[in-house]
Amino acid sequence: MDPLIDALERELGRRRDQGLERRRRVVSSRAGPHARVDGAECLAFAGNDYLGLAGDPALARAAADAALAWGVGSTASHLVCGHYAPHETLESELAGYVAPTPGARAVTLSTGYLANLAIVSALADRETEIHADRLNHACLNDGALLARAKLVRYPHADAGALAARLAASRARRRVIATDAVFSMDGDIAPLARLAELAHEHDAWLVVDDAHGFGVLGGGRGTLAELGVSSPRIVLMGTLGKAAGVAGAFVAAHPAVIETIVQTARPYIYTTAAPPMLAQTLLASLGRIRAADDARAHLAALVARFRAGAAGLPWTLADSRTAIQPLIVGGAREASAVSAGLARRGLYVPAIRPPTVPAGTSRLRVSLSAAHGAGDVDRLLAALAAIARGDP
Ligand SMILES: Cc1ncc(COP(=O)(O)O)c(C=O)c1O
Repeated sequence: MDPLIDALERELGRRRDQGLERRRRVVSSRAGPHARVDGAECLAFAGNDYLGLAGDPALARAAADAALAWGVGSTASHLVCGHYAPHETLESELAGYVAPTPGARAVTLSTGYLANLAIVSALADRETEIHADRLNHACLNDGALLARAKLVRYPHADAGALAARLAASRARRRVIATDAVFSMDGDIAPLARLAELAHEHDAWLVVDDAHGFGVLGGGRGTLAELGVSSPRIVLMGTLGKAAGVAGAFVAAHPAVIETIVQTARPYIYTTAAPPMLAQTLLASLGRIRAADDARAHLAALVARFRAGAAGLPWTLADSRTAIQPLIVGGAREASAVSAGLARRGLYVPAIRPPTVPAGTSRLRVSLSAAHGAGDVDRLLAALAAIARGDP
């Protein structure tokens, strides 16, 4: 046997033994809560399709039309010859819509992961401290690695602890980085206070609104919801969640956007997303602007789930967003509840370390405007049955 392969297999075996092995399930139906997963019909509370746009027939038609108009590939990176008219239009529409500061400009990238790498590596260098919320999504931290910056993590949503760290900082440059809606907890960062701290301590504030764009602030996102705006804010939003397609944008002062275009390796050294996706995203943006009814329906589902889950033996996270985690504790216990739901035809993923801290493994219940009240009731009934110990 090859010793290198042996070492990998021992490590994989260790993960399996600890209940940390991850498995990809194969979805063989159109995107949406009623899905066929690993060959079985199920009701899913798993994706981030908060407005139900990913499987929307009208958007699918817009995508087909866009493919016929623009082809399926972009052929090159944006700075070579991959920047098409739909990218340009999408960027200016997004900038005007989310407007984290008056006169903002936007740039689009292929994924949110790349967008965060691009922002952090454009703003930070070896002499920069990145002050990051401990529960931030991994890609903001990976941006610090790419920039070779110093990563300082502050306790979750603790603006007081952050203020103390910023006051003590001797770094030449400082960046505060936070998720707006925390992806595994569903709670919202204290963005108004963080924006004040950015001004007091000469820092940038990078806001990752992957889970707020399209949903909060009447669709404009968490900054709009909280009424926060500043030239120091660099806003990232993803387009594969509520927008239902794929990709991401950065919106900020034009000087920030031009710095990303000129210098960010994750922007420069990759093929541009196909223009058909940008064209489809323009249609999606039109839907997001007009989705007040869907957002109201989603809010009603959140309230229904929270009322029904209050009696369960697991801790319901303090969240008012579409992400409603039930904290179970151990990785094996969380997997067992998820498996019990799967036996009842419900798909809710168990989220375990290292994605969340040890001892806080959870079911990440994610609600969508494509769910109905009856879907939420079915999930609550199944959870109650599992809590009672029913087989
Ligand atoms: C908070 C947060 N930021 C960034 C990302 C990455 O975005 P993308 O999936 O578009 O790469 C995700 C999820 O994937 C996320 O939850």
